[in-house]
Amino acid sequence: MSKAQPVMTKAQPGMTKAQPGMSMGCADIAFEVNGAAVSVCVPPVRRLSSVLRDELRLTGTKVGCDAGDCGACTVLVDGEPVCACLMSAASAAGTVVTTVEGLANGRLSALQASFLDHGAAQCGICTPGLLIAATALLEKNPNPTEAETQDALGGVLCRCTGYRKIVAAVMDAGRFADERSTDAAAPHPPAGTFSPYSDGEKGEAPAPASPSLHS
Ligand code: FES
Ligand code: FES
Repeated sequence: MSKAQPVMTKAQPGMTKAQPGMSMGCADIAFEVNGAAVSVCVPPVRRLSSVLRDELRLTGTKVGCDAGDCGACTVLVDGEPVCACLMSAASAAGTVVTTVEGLANGRLSALQASFLDHGAAQCGICTPGLLIAATALLEKNPNPTEAETQDALGGVLCRCTGYRKIVAAVMDAGRFADERSTDAAAPHPPAGTFSPYSDGEKGEAPAPASPSLHS
């Protein structure tokens, strides 16, 4: 698999001038994460990955390199996969961010269920980034070819699996979506039972820090 990132948006850290509300090197930065409005007071140049993990306690987003190379920190920003370690907090202002914690809605997403079914995770460090990158792909192309899948996942490195099970899981995700559309009561593992990427106990993603949430 190529290390190139043909569909990965590598956002560049942005410097900002002093803004209203900025004090002691911090600025009030508001955006949306997983459907909730959040506001944090952080230095504008702080990495979005750090804001998500350290301020909002969304530790499902992993950090492997802090340099845009591994893709572990991939999140959706306005629907596009972005390396959160390369995006400044200031650049995130006003955007809609989705992290791996936002994929499950009461139960695993079809893609997550397919990952589980295919055994597509080992250590799990890459899994959040892969799930996010694959989610972006499937939103645009529900039935990707193997080449299209490899291309879409090219920015996220996995040192464990050899990619075959991951690619198969992404290509097979549509089957789980179809099953759900025809049988809404189909049994699937509840959200929280498959979170090799989570730092929480029993695989449960930690809840965002409540003081930062506005809704
Ligand atoms: S931690 Fe962001 S690309 Fe590696
Ligand atoms: S499962 Fe370990 S790096 Fe991908």
